[in-house]
Amino acid sequence: MDDRVRIFDTTLRDGEQSPGCSMNIDEKIRVARQLAALQVDTIEAGFPIASPGDFEAVREVARKIEGPVICGLARAVEKDIDRAWEAVRDAKRARIHTFIATSDLHLQFKLKMSRDAVLERAAWAVAHAKRYTEDVEFSAEDAARSDVDFLCRVVEGAIGSGATTVNIPDTVGYAIPEEFGRLIATLRERVPNIDQAVISVHCHNDLGLAVANSLAAVCHGARQVECTVNGLGERAGNASLEEVVMAIRTRRNLFGLTTNVRTEKIYQSSRLVSDITGMVVQANKAVVGANAFAHESGIHQDGFLKKQETYEIMTPESIGLSKSKLVLGKHSGRHAFRARLGEMGYHLSEEETNRAFERFKTLADAKKEIFDEDIVALIADEVYRIPDIFELEGVEAHSVTGQSPRARVRMRVDGQTLENESTGDGPVDAVYSAIKQITGSESPLVGYFVKGITGGTDAQGEVTTRVQEGDQIFIGQGADTDIIVASARAYVNALNKLEHWKINRSRIKD
Ligand code: KIV
Ligand code: ZN
Repeated sequence: MDDRVRIFDTTLRDGEQSPGCSMNIDEKIRVARQLAALQVDTIEAGFPIASPGDFEAVREVARKIEGPVICGLARAVEKDIDRAWEAVRDAKRARIHTFIATSDLHLQFKLKMSRDAVLERAAWAVAHAKRYTEDVEFSAEDAARSDVDFLCRVVEGAIGSGATTVNIPDTVGYAIPEEFGRLIATLRERVPNIDQAVISVHCHNDLGLAVANSLAAVCHGARQVECTVNGLGERAGNASLEEVVMAIRTRRNLFGLTTNVRTEKIYQSSRLVSDITGMVVQANKAVVGANAFAHESGIHQDGFLKKQETYEIMTPESIGLSKSKLVLGKHSGRHAFRARLGEMGYHLSEEETNRAFERFKTLADAKKEIFDEDIVALIADEVYRIPDIFELEGVEAHSVTGQSPRARVRMRVDGQTLENESTGDGPVDAVYSAIKQITGSESPLVGYFVKGITGGTDAQGEVTTRVQEGDQIFIGQGADTDIIVASARAYVNALNKLEHWKINRSRIKD
């Protein structure tokens, strides 16, 4: 049997279904580009029938991203499959992924269909997708809670109609590793044509077992794992890409398998997805959390210094963290800066490099040591920032014990410089109140998080804000050694994204 596990990334589809994680087209393209650099095998770019925005995003990814297969999701209905094909058809390698539920619970209460009708529909949907492309994936939604005999029949029918990948989802994260592994073994024993398709798994993390279940499935012959960067996804999320990939790599002695993923791009991918979605990675998250390679206890430090392997099963470099964390300082020139960007996998235009370098010099004046994490934040804040409709020019805040904090903000809006002075419960509140007055924004701020990027009192603070408009959430980010400035930048960034969204929406309506 094949000894390579295919990595099917669904950050842009299932990941984007996480509450508050929606991305605009530019952001999806950036993530897709990063996934291509990471060398995942397939990118599930979205669910084209879901909305015109989803369709557009999948089509853009299909047109612009080369390398991985580009896949669009479709229910087992004609209009979904046709729309999915329209969206992915321009990709060099395109896949249609069609699905229908197979558990009695879903059949009875959601689909209101008999088992025979589902059996027939699954085979029909695959055959319909097959008219467009050779590469068709079929998913049996809620497979983990389905009757095994019925599931075997549906899978056999889908393969009979030409499915080249059959996906077995644990849609609600209900399975336990041993049981899920056995399910895959049973399919391999009982489905007569199973060798004609790749078995895939798609596990949700409701019981914290998504990665364990995926790996158990791999042990029993699954050769595609569906996963997301940082484990984003519906409810508790999907299996985390970085954990699946690093487990297969680190325990190669056990699995005897490989993936195509360039693991040294993992950290950067995790940061990018976290920056764009505003979903902060918990410090103790496996592989990519801030503490994943930190050794605190004296005994551990002592052992680690004597021999790294005593307390480290994989190296920070293997996921793209540099060994020497100190990279640049005040005296580093443009050349060193550009070289470091290249080593970190950033390939910026001349103009972007210049802007980033200017920002770097300002930062180096405020902060003695510049770490990789500072550069990642700087690039996110300066280079990948959405063009400003509201431009922040200056912020001034005063806090005196016993008095209401006051703030003055100066911004450029429609070619005019506007100023406002406000008070608030704290200096950030006062700044936000002034920004609200200037921009006239009435959309509520529903989230505000601050994180220190590196240690030390001169560390940059990174602020994430969430602004709500109807059922849409706009994520803003700002980084600076001055936390008030970082807060202002983050809020203005979210308001700019909201403004761009309004403009695009009115264009789509026109
Ligand atoms: O969780 C699930 O079952 C899914 C399918 C559409 C693959 O996301
Ligand atoms: Zn899912």
